[in-house]
Amino acid sequence: MIKKIDHIAIAVHNLEEAVKFYQQFLGLSLADVEEIEGMDTKVGFFAIGETKIELVQPTKEETGLAKFLAARGPGIHHICLEVDDIEAELMAYKEKGALLIDETPRKGAHGMKVGFIHPKTSGGVLIELAEPPRAKD
Ligand code: CO
Repeated sequence: MIKKIDHIAIAVHNLEEAVKFYQQFLGLSLADVEEIEGMDTKVGFFAIGETKIELVQPTKEETGLAKFLAARGPGIHHICLEVDDIEAELMAYKEKGALLIDETPRKGAHGMKVGFIHPKTSGGVLIELAEPPRAKD
């Protein structure tokens, strides 16, 4: 089951530069910055009510995110939906014919289990599903 929009992610070339707009103009404070090794990204979050804005910077070339930035420049990269059971969600979408980037979840920011649905399935929008550490068990 989908619970809420967890975050909207913005692809950036340089996290330290990109945070300035959110801090100086919007008055938001950066919650935390985290390097996610398995994804070759560095992320920073701004909390806005129940939802967050995630700034995401590639830490390696040749990743999907680096290619996205090279092709399109900075901008909205993906929308993340919180789910209560990511394995079940991914399996259900696969059975319905969705093209998945991750058939099994991997480790994302904040200890979340995450998986991406391919934009070919979702009308050009990259969708991330995320299950928080304490949603199950
Ligand atoms: Co994300």
